Amino acid sequence: GRTAAVIPAAGRGVRLGPGAPKALRALGGTPMLIHAVRAMAASRAVSLVVVVAPQDGAPEVKNLLDAHSLPERTDYLVVPGGDTRQQSVHAGLEALPGTIGTVLVHDAARPLVPVDTVDAVIAAVRDGAPAVVPALSLADTVKEVEPGEKGLPEPVVATPERARLRAVQTPQGFDRDTLLRAHRTVAVSGDGATDDAGMVERLGTPVVVVPGHEEAFKVTRPIDLVLAEAVLARRRA
Ligand code: CTP
Ligand code: MG
Repeated sequence: GRTAAVIPAAGRGVRLGPGAPKALRALGGTPMLIHAVRAMAASRAVSLVVVVAPQDGAPEVKNLLDAHSLPERTDYLVVPGGDTRQQSVHAGLEALPGTIGTVLVHDAARPLVPVDTVDAVIAAVRDGAPAVVPALSLADTVKEVEPGEKGLPEPVVATPERARLRAVQTPQGFDRDTLLRAHRTVAVSGDGATDDAGMVERLGTPVVVVPGHEEAFKVTRPIDLVLAEAVLARRRA
């Protein structure tokens, strides 16, 4: 089957601070969402990109796509999103035509993912893995804590072995039927999964990791915008 990319872009970007919705904020003079769309369409395997817009922002996002140059071999679709990332991704999945066999889910907030990472994820799905996530090993040691009252020190519960931990990125790649089943299964989609692969894991389906990329970091806080502008400036130099 063909490959599509669903780009959830319906978030407000609360942690980035006041301003336009995060996906519409400029990076090097171009909206972050446009960078993310171009990053997916840069892969020759991707024939459709579905952008999940803020609930009442679909017309604005359509205009934005029309106003920017995008590869012509790719089709573009805009659908309205939901209150959570999970709901937004689900809306994008339900909009996919039946001809799609492989689906990528990619955060609009990861505008700088290189095409080689996108292609590596797609290749692993096409080689037979039902779920594939790009991931990096961690620089920081991670502690599990018992969350307590705000302002009070939190007791440490455990320190997982750092060498076995991975920080996961997007695009995450899936066999389309597998991911759709996960999103439609209430028992799996019930309590807040923070990524799509996590929902597939709860179905009991195996998930594998491929190498991620430093430039696939998520723009979450103001300092991430500083880094993103610097990466873009280095590319353009
Ligand atoms: N997202 C979405 N629909 C939502 C919430 C999030 O489509 N209801 C998308 C965001 O637009 C983003 C991606 O999910 O591209 C990853 O989410 P995150 O980085 O948390 O973005 P926001 O939710 O916008 O940011 P914040 O949590 O700081 O408000
Ligand atoms: Mg969020």
